[in-house]
Amino acid sequence: MKIDILTLFPDMFAPLEHSIVGKAKERGLLEITYHNFRENAEKARHVDDEPYGGGQGMLLRAQPIFDTYDKIGAKNPRVILLDPAGRTFDQAYAEELSQEEELIFICGHYEGYDERIKTLVTDEISIGDFVLTGGELAAMTMIDATVRLIPDVIGKEASHQDDSFSSGLLEYPQYTRPYDFRGMKVPDVLMSGHHKNIRRWRLEESLRKTYLRRPDLLENYAFTKEEAEILERIKAE
Ligand SMILES: C[S@@+](CC[C@H](N)C(=O)[O-])C[C@H]1O[C@@H](n2cnc3c(N)ncnc32)[C@H](O)[C@@H]1O
Repeated sequence: MKIDILTLFPDMFAPLEHSIVGKAKERGLLEITYHNFRENAEKARHVDDEPYGGGQGMLLRAQPIFDTYDKIGAKNPRVILLDPAGRTFDQAYAEELSQEEELIFICGHYEGYDERIKTLVTDEISIGDFVLTGGELAAMTMIDATVRLIPDVIGKEASHQDDSFSSGLLEYPQYTRPYDFRGMKVPDVLMSGHHKNIRRWRLEESLRKTYLRRPDLLENYAFTKEEAEILERIKAE
């Protein structure tokens, strides 16, 4: 995958050099290029200006963003504008993006941007109902969640199939050695070696956790007969 990031603060992306995303870059599965659009700004490198009609704060000007976009010369990119008013980012959308060959992220700053920048954009995305100072942390969050879903980036592909949200449910509780830690023991079923019972216990715990913490996720969930029965039992507890 090729990712181009339009930002005034390329140094903020240092965390992407580490861990799974950093390794994906080293292994050639991912290429990230940063474009400081200040370098393409006419008018003494000014990237911002006052809003027409008056008002507080400054807006990103269209020219530096358009010229930077043109220089990238991407053929068929998905162009993502980080915007608190956009569609909320989620796991399904990360899965969709992980299938793309080229992504461009446009990181806003100041009070926002000239509306005409949106004519370059295919997707306006928010990472939640709060306002950040700029789009950089939002872009990093999206890149991290997306890159780990690219085939071969994580060793065993199965390791993200059970993740919270991937299946539509929250993930079940997990334990590792030792069996007894400060008097807290691992549930017997996980020690039993009985795969059918372990699968059912995990499914039940996933459904219970989702029902108790995020019932909204169950509203459009396609239940199997087994899941529907388990949920009815959980509701009756
Ligand atoms: C200070 S914010 C501007 C907020 C804008 N005045 C508004 O009310 O929508 C500056 C930039 O940070 C980014 N940003 C802020 N919050 C975000 C969020 N929740 N998700 C994605 N990007 C965000 C956007 O690129 C935004 O243009």
